[in-house]
Amino acid sequence: MSLLRTLQFALAIPGFLNAQRRLEPEDFFELAMERLDAEGLMAWRARSLAAVRGRVLDVGVGTGRSFPLYGPRARVVGLEPDAALRKVAAQRGEIFGFSVLGASAEHLPFVDGHFDAVAVHLALCCIPDAAQACREFRRVLRPGGALHLLEHVQSETPLGALCLRGLDPIWARMTREACHPARRTLDTVRAAGFRVDCVERGIFPAAGMPPFPLIWARAKAR
Ligand SMILES: C[S@@+](CC[C@H](N)C(=O)[O-])C[C@H]1O[C@@H](n2cnc3c(N)ncnc32)[C@H](O)[C@@H]1O
Repeated sequence: MSLLRTLQFALAIPGFLNAQRRLEPEDFFELAMERLDAEGLMAWRARSLAAVRGRVLDVGVGTGRSFPLYGPRARVVGLEPDAALRKVAAQRGEIFGFSVLGASAEHLPFVDGHFDAVAVHLALCCIPDAAQACREFRRVLRPGGALHLLEHVQSETPLGALCLRGLDPIWARMTREACHPARRTLDTVRAAGFRVDCVERGIFPAAGMPPFPLIWARAKAR
């Protein structure tokens, strides 16, 4: 299956690069995410956010595709440094009464302990200093608050890890968000002072994408 997926991905590269060149950044992002969400990513997102409530920081919110999945008890602030994506996220956020700020995860403009939850979907693969971002997540979470992650990460098998290490610099150059598929994100989260109390693993659910290992995880400050 992984071989078939890798082949499908290789064949899809020219179309991917062409669409990325041709379209406005926010339109390309929406097109790509729409497909991934329809092929199964949306179900993972929904699962990750099902129990999230209170003051929530959604980091690297993109165009705000997760906003409709929050329950009525979540008051969400989205954070997105990319102006083109942020504009779409802000429009989407208005529908739900959510605000969106232009800031980076490495320097969060909030006081310590401000949030009940921090949600991060497919952003720790792109954030340049993921270790610093995780320390910031810990700082802005209240005691007992939780970090909710949905991320693609380095493979646990030696062959998979080797392939993703090779792909990492190529994929980072191919993607506008400079996405790194070989990050050991759970190690980074733990090193920032979190205890990961729940992890589920799967494979990125979309044909035409490499078979990236995907994790859904919840972590709390140690
Ligand atoms: C693959 S997208 C995921 C977007 C969104 N979370 C989703 O699931 O649709 C990665 C996002 O991380 C954002 N990002 C990159 N560097 C960042 C940083 N330093 N701080 C916060 N977000 C960042 C990108 O702008 C982009 O919106």
